Amino acid sequence: MIQVLFVCLGNICRSPMAEAVFRHQVKEAGLDAVIAIDSAGTGDWHIGHPPHQGTRDILDQYQIKHEGLKARQVRSDDFIQYTYIIAMDASNVTNLASFAPDFVEGEKRATIHKLLDFAPDRSIKDVPDPYYTGNFQEVYEMVEESCERLLAFIIEKEKL
Ligand code: 4NP
Repeated sequence: MIQVLFVCLGNICRSPMAEAVFRHQVKEAGLDAVIAIDSAGTGDWHIGHPPHQGTRDILDQYQIKHEGLKARQVRSDDFIQYTYIIAMDASNVTNLASFAPDFVEGEKRATIHKLLDFAPDRSIKDVPDPYYTGNFQEVYEMVEESCERLLAFIIEKEKL
């Protein structure tokens, strides 16, 4: 099983949006039996909470299911369980380091990427945080495009 974990700060705006969109795309591609998906936040303020209203509204608008999503915090064993950890911005990558204990050589499985690494045509490299900007539409467009390309990358890399 290939495991993909999306990570942001609060796990209520960007990473649950990416989780829902990617799950939808993976299902459409008929790969839901081989690719497992989750999301988490580096912060602990929203543990157990559903996605932000803005994320739920935009997902509803595009008829992407999000029922049952609940925020959780990153755990150290995520670095062993997950194949790919996809962060929304550079500060998430920095914060992730504090959750990665000193793994024995070869034990850590996950490779960490930023979502916009998969959208090289875009001028920005970090997904803006709609918790502060209020712009869920622009984030949806970035997430949708980058997740499509992430899926193509995984299909090629994992020979699916
Ligand atoms: P997210 O946005 O990282 O995209 O989920 C945020 C959500 C909540 C907070 C910060 C960012 N917060 O400070 O509570």
